[in-house]
Amino acid sequence: MKTHFCGFRCFACGHEVGADFGGYVCPRCENNLEVRYDWPVGAPGRWWIDVARADIFRYRGLLPVANLELAAPLRVGRTPLYPAPRLGQRAGLNNLFLKDDGQNPSASFKDRAGAVALVRARETGVSVISGASTGNAGSSMACLAASVAMPCVIFVPETAPAAKIAQLLVFGAHVFAVRGTYDDAFDLCMAVCRERGWFNRNTGHNPFTREGKKTAAFEIYEQLGRIPDWVVVPTGDGNILAGIWKGFRDLQEAGIVERTPKMLCAQSEASGAISGAVWELQKAGGGRPDWSQVRVAPVSATTVADSISVDVPRDGLAAVRAVVESGGAAVTVADDAILAAIPELARGAGVFAEPAAACAWAGLKKAAAAGIVGADETVVCMSTGNGLKDIASARKAAGEPVSLENSVDAALAATEAIGR
Ligand SMILES: Cc1ncc(COP(=O)(O)O)c(C=O)c1O
Ligand SMILES: [Zn+2]
Repeated sequence: MKTHFCGFRCFACGHEVGADFGGYVCPRCENNLEVRYDWPVGAPGRWWIDVARADIFRYRGLLPVANLELAAPLRVGRTPLYPAPRLGQRAGLNNLFLKDDGQNPSASFKDRAGAVALVRARETGVSVISGASTGNAGSSMACLAASVAMPCVIFVPETAPAAKIAQLLVFGAHVFAVRGTYDDAFDLCMAVCRERGWFNRNTGHNPFTREGKKTAAFEIYEQLGRIPDWVVVPTGDGNILAGIWKGFRDLQEAGIVERTPKMLCAQSEASGAISGAVWELQKAGGGRPDWSQVRVAPVSATTVADSISVDVPRDGLAAVRAVVESGGAAVTVADDAILAAIPELARGAGVFAEPAAACAWAGLKKAAAAGIVGADETVVCMSTGNGLKDIASARKAAGEPVSLENSVDAALAATEAIGR
């Protein structure tokens, strides 16, 4: 199956370059690039699906990499989409679905990006792959690189949750715990990659991360059998949101579907740069902004949801465009609401989410209460990371077990109120 990848386009100034372009960002204005395709619009049959594959490369006709013998031998994607009626009721929603991307090889959504980035890196013949991460993108890259014995160098803030650092080390990456924030780690990684000539997987900066993430849109369409009204995405850098939106747009541009969903950006109040930019544009009346003039102002992020704690969103413009162009919305929620959402998701739907992932459900509840999302609309809420990634936060939200003396009498007394 051939790839229809034909080049790149700048999100800000619209400048286009061909598929042979070897850089990462727009050569004119240094903003992020998106991958372009020459779709065979009107081609018969399901030309975009390789039915023999049960991972993200099932959609290889819509992806920018062709040499799948270079792909990791791990199953990335094909995560479950669960109907969640009981959880939905809590927010007055009658058609709620949860997409559990905590079930990827390294237990987060980031495996989708890493899987495509890995093939791209190996196609370009580099020998080392590197990235900065709040934790998940790095542990994902380390996992995928280990599966093909590719050297991997990851920069994380030293405050990253212990489980994520353990994953990085177990997979054998070179791990640098930066005495600073994720944004500091990002800038360091950029400088080192430039000097060393390593493949730079950094979120947003590398246009192929979005291409991996867009596969969630294809799965949602296939699993649901239709396009939902809303997709809810917990957001920090904005790359997952922009990626999923790109997937729906690709489906539409390739003539596979007729409509696209609205994108709901869910952020922590303490890390809401993208939401702030969306609200500014909405206040100014929406319309068709000149994207080369739109700025996403940095914030000073402090949220408990470490994966979405971002000062300078690295795919901010693409994410703001996705929300606005999809007719969507942005909401922010307090950290307390994020923590409370962890046991709600677990008890209401059986899905254990890390704080960043739970932010999607907290944001969706707020959007439903505000009338932004309607009761009968079909909503897919993304759960982007497994709760075992950050058990300290989960324990804060879930409370303590009952301490019990080792005796049957004590056990019976303690269980009296539970009944038969
Ligand atoms: C579990 C989880 N959810 C959400 C996000 C946010 O993705 P993005 O930074 O692309 O907005 C991340 C990013 O690290 C993540 O790991
Ligand atoms: Zn440009």
